[in-house]
Amino acid sequence: MTNTGLPGKRPLLLLVAGAKGAIASTLAIAVTACRRTPEIVMPSLTTQGKFTFLSAVEETQIAGWDNNPQSLTSSALCQGVVPEPVCRLHADQLDRIAVKAAPAPGLNLQGQVEQLAADIREFRKAHDRCLPVLINLLPAAPLNNFDHCRSLSELYETAGNRSMPDLAYALAAVTSGVPVVNFTPNAVEIPVLVTEAVKREVPLCGRDGKTGQTYLKVVLASALKARRLTVDGWYSLNILGNADGKNLMEPERAAGKVANKTDLLDDILGYPVGGRYSTPTHKVHIDYYAPRGDAKEAWDVIDFRGLFDLPMSIRLNLQGRDSILAAPMALDLGRWMAALQLAGHSGPVPELGFYFKKPVGPKAPRTFQEQLNSMDLLERRCEKKMSSAVSKAEERP
Ligand SMILES: NC(=O)c1ccc[n+]([C@@H]2O[C@H](COP(=O)([O-])OP(=O)(O)OC[C@H]3O[C@@H](n4cnc5c(N)ncnc54)[C@H](O)[C@@H]3O)[C@@H](O)[C@H]2O)c1
Repeated sequence: MTNTGLPGKRPLLLLVAGAKGAIASTLAIAVTACRRTPEIVMPSLTTQGKFTFLSAVEETQIAGWDNNPQSLTSSALCQGVVPEPVCRLHADQLDRIAVKAAPAPGLNLQGQVEQLAADIREFRKAHDRCLPVLINLLPAAPLNNFDHCRSLSELYETAGNRSMPDLAYALAAVTSGVPVVNFTPNAVEIPVLVTEAVKREVPLCGRDGKTGQTYLKVVLASALKARRLTVDGWYSLNILGNADGKNLMEPERAAGKVANKTDLLDDILGYPVGGRYSTPTHKVHIDYYAPRGDAKEAWDVIDFRGLFDLPMSIRLNLQGRDSILAAPMALDLGRWMAALQLAGHSGPVPELGFYFKKPVGPKAPRTFQEQLNSMDLLERRCEKKMSSAVSKAEERP
């Protein structure tokens, strides 16, 4: 059988790195709930009704890795994202999900990749009809720079024993022919990984899911730009009290996230915000505030100018739920990756910029309109490719 998976539809297998985290446990509950009560989950999916050449969403399978020894249900209960009665309703199914231990921290990068690739072979064997996709939901990590490495062997030698779990999972996936969704702010899409992905016909997408405040920032900045209103300054503050928020209190772990949240505004507008003050006036702050848990809150003050340079201002207050916003996107992105792989797409997919703060790949769409348009075009190309593959298969004697 070829990569097109024809004939017969195949279900998605989400292989989640960080399988017991806040987003991942919410995702696991959503996937499980979808089997019993799809009407509760399906309306939250942006891919609802798309990719009919894949098996139904309700057939999605899930497995993964975590270094947290708690059961998946206990972990979900501790995070408190999904109400307790809902967690308990699905506990039997949740605790049947295979979650393997993460590679030991002392293992070098090559050893980690080999161990994870062996795990992927086992997961594939256990779900032999499925289309696996790696979903990276590991904690935000300090930025590494391996852009100069030209080959896998050079990368393994340079990396030595440094701990870079994201890279290990992504390399294990790509070298096993499994597409990657990088939902984290971590820079895993280094040239060596991209080259391997293209060589092995594996699609990749990322980086840093655009779930709440930044999603609305793209919408509003695009709207102000379309009306030729000049943004003079943009002050963004976030408070969140989950493990991600705590982790982001380490400046070197927050650096990637803050840069991803900051850089896109100038890119959308096409000029540096703060030009008239000779200093950047786009400010982004993230603060850990335990009482809020996953129920994050964000404030934006947007100063802009119109005719005769007269100043105007907007206040935006988002009271969101981090993992509730993120989990359906992770499932959507898994479906996109499986569909694109079947349609023969390989390497980074900048057309999925709609979902990310820092879309990887060349010429990523910037404004909201461009992001919707390029995602639409990508879907049409994918559907066309698949329907011509189906017609060819049907013509065969
Ligand atoms: N929630 C959002 O809206 C949002 C938006 C954009 C990006 N993100 C990013 O998504 C990622 C996940 O967020 P979260 O809130 O679920 O984080 P989390 O801290 O709740 O979950 C991370 C999980 O990874 C596990 N883990 C740590 N090291 C591991 C390893 N080596 N192997 C396997 N598992 C390991 C942890 O035990 C934990 O269960 C973070 O990088 C976050 O910055 C989140």
